[in-house]
Amino acid sequence: QKGIAIAIDGPAAAGKSTVAKKIATKLNYIYIDTGAMYRALTLKALKYNVETDNELQLFQLLLKTDIKLEQAETNQRVLLDNEDVSEEIRNEAVTQNVSEVAKHRLIREEMVERQRSFVNETNIVMDGRDIGSHVIPDADVKIFMIASVEERALRRYKENKQKGFPADLTQLKQEIADRDRFDMEREVSPLVKADDAIELDTTSLSIDQVVEAILQIIEQKG
Ligand code: C5P
Repeated sequence: QKGIAIAIDGPAAAGKSTVAKKIATKLNYIYIDTGAMYRALTLKALKYNVETDNELQLFQLLLKTDIKLEQAETNQRVLLDNEDVSEEIRNEAVTQNVSEVAKHRLIREEMVERQRSFVNETNIVMDGRDIGSHVIPDADVKIFMIASVEERALRRYKENKQKGFPADLTQLKQEIADRDRFDMEREVSPLVKADDAIELDTTSLSIDQVVEAILQIIEQKG
């Protein structure tokens, strides 16, 4: 029997991972954060001084890299070669370089293969940029989450403050807008809403309202 797959895509800081995690917990599905995989490789590339525009070297690095997404109680742990990098992959340097790493064809093909290996195994909620459009084109439910760039910057600002990270609203807004443009304009499986995805504008919704809306969509389909 085939597992159920829920795909959640959208621009940066739209709340995808927060919402995907909650849905996975409610439904007892496995949550897969594909952005974390690109971030983990980026962290390793920065550590080993591999240039983000050197596709072949990045690819060779990736082939020697083990990335595991472990389900912890309240959160997901990201293990890079068995080291917990869950926090480190969210840092500024990784955030600024990840889209450069993720634009390369060889990198995406290998990541997508790894991501597809999770499908069918079990019921999953997967979030990213190209899940509904490319990784799981036959996903049971596809959601495309959007929100105004102002609202997304504000959410990230509050999150950073809470974590004690540096936070500058204007800078965050710029970073988010730049990353979106880069992800939308890349050649290989860019950020795009799949034709059959349901668009959800979360600008004026709370996290729980978004979760509720998506659960209803899943129920209607099921
Ligand atoms: O979701 P998150 O912000 O952690 O993703 C970081 C970056 O990884 C994105 O800006 C994008 O460049 C890349 N990414 C991607 N495809 C995915 C998930 C993330 O290209 N499916």
